[in-house]
Amino acid sequence: MTPNTSNESSDVGDVAAERVRIFDTTLRDGEQAPGFSMDRRAKLRMAHALEALGVDIIEAGFPSASPDDFGSVAEIARVLRGPTVCGLARCVDGDIDACGRALEAARHSRIHLFLSTSPLHREHKLNMSKQQVIDTACAAIERARKLCHEVEFSAEDAMRTEPEYLVEVFSAAIAAGATTVNAPDTVGYTTPAEIAERFAYLRKHVRGADKVVFSSHCHDDLGMAVANSLAAVSAGARQVECTINGIGERAGNASLEEIVMALRVRPGYYGVETGIDTRKLVPTSRLLTQLTGQAVPRNKAIVGDNAFAHESGIHQHGMLKHRGTYEIMRPQDVGMGETKLVLGKHSGRHALRQRLQTLGHEVDEAAMDSIFARFKALADKKREVHDEDLEAIALGMDPEA
Ligand code: KIV
Ligand code: ZN
Repeated sequence: MTPNTSNESSDVGDVAAERVRIFDTTLRDGEQAPGFSMDRRAKLRMAHALEALGVDIIEAGFPSASPDDFGSVAEIARVLRGPTVCGLARCVDGDIDACGRALEAARHSRIHLFLSTSPLHREHKLNMSKQQVIDTACAAIERARKLCHEVEFSAEDAMRTEPEYLVEVFSAAIAAGATTVNAPDTVGYTTPAEIAERFAYLRKHVRGADKVVFSSHCHDDLGMAVANSLAAVSAGARQVECTINGIGERAGNASLEEIVMALRVRPGYYGVETGIDTRKLVPTSRLLTQLTGQAVPRNKAIVGDNAFAHESGIHQHGMLKHRGTYEIMRPQDVGMGETKLVLGKHSGRHALRQRLQTLGHEVDEAAMDSIFARFKALADKKREVHDEDLEAIALGMDPEA
C-alpha cells in the first residue's frame, strides 16, 4: 500500500467537497506579458491542452485587442466542446460587440467585463465619479448579457477599492445580470489575511451574493499571488483565475499548478476540489515553455526540474526509508515521472550504494570506502555525478579520463 505522505485525510469527510472553478487566463493575462506572446497555432494547441487538463473556463483572449486575437478567440470558441470559452472586454460597446461575435460559435460562452473601481484609477485613469463607474458597468453588463451565455464582471484594482463602495459596485453588477463577480488584486498588493477578510465582507454585504460565484484574480508583485488566492478560497471564493507556470503581467499571475496542488494536498484544510487532471500539469507546463521559449526555474514548485529531486545525504537517506519524509506529493500525481535522487557532493553512502546496485554493482564494505572517497572527490569538481561516472568508478577506471 502506498503510504499517505501528508497529515491530511484523503477525503473531506461525510459531506461532498465543494467545487472551485479553475479559470485559466494563460492565453489572455499570461500571453500579455513581455516575452510570452503566442501566435494563433500556439494558442490553439495550448487551448486543447487546457481542455484536456480539465479547466472549467478558458479565457482565450481579448478580441478587440487585435484582429489576430479576435481570430484566435473565435477559433478556440469553435473547436472546444468542454470548457466555457471566455473573452475579455472593456465596458465599451465596440469591445463588447466584438467579444460577442468572437464567441458566437462557443458551446458555452462568457464575456468578461472589467472596469476600474479604486480611487486612484477612478481619478487618474478613468476620470469618472463613483456613480459613473457603476452606471457604465451596469450598461455594459446588460449589453453583454444578450451576446453570450454568461457575464463576469471584474472590478479592476478591487483590493485597493473602498470595501463599502465595492459592495455597491458588485450589488449593482449582480442586479444588472453578472453571474460571476471578480475582485482582482491587479497590482499584487494585498496579503492573505486582508484578502480573506475582504471576501468574507463582500459575501456578507453584497446584495444577491448567494446567486453568484465570487472569484479571485491575484498578481505576484510581492510573491503572494498563490497564497492570496488560497486565502480567498478559504473565505468563500469559488472561482480562481490563474495561469500555467504563473505567467502574466509583470511578476505574473497566480500559478495554476500551485493552487491546484495546494488544494489537493490539503483537502481537509480547504474542503474543496477542482476538476483538474493533475497528471497533466507537468506536460501542460512543458508545452507552454516549448511554445513560448521561456523555461521555468529549476526550483519552481510542482513543475520545476528540482521539485522532486533530492541531493543531500540526509534527505536521500530519509527518502530511501519512507518517501513521505521529504515529499508531500508523488511526482506521478503531477505527471513528473519518478523522484530523482541526484548524486552530488551533498549525497551520502546510502544513495550511492543504491544507485550502484541499480546499475548492477554489488559492492562490499571495503570496496565501498574507496568508491565513496573517489565519488566525493569527483563530486567536489562536478555539479552532478552521472551514471557513466559511477560505472567508471565502480570498475576502477578514471571517470575524468
Ligand atoms: O489584473 C486584473 O485586474 C485583470 C482584469 C482584467 C481582470 O487582469
Ligand atoms: Zn490580471
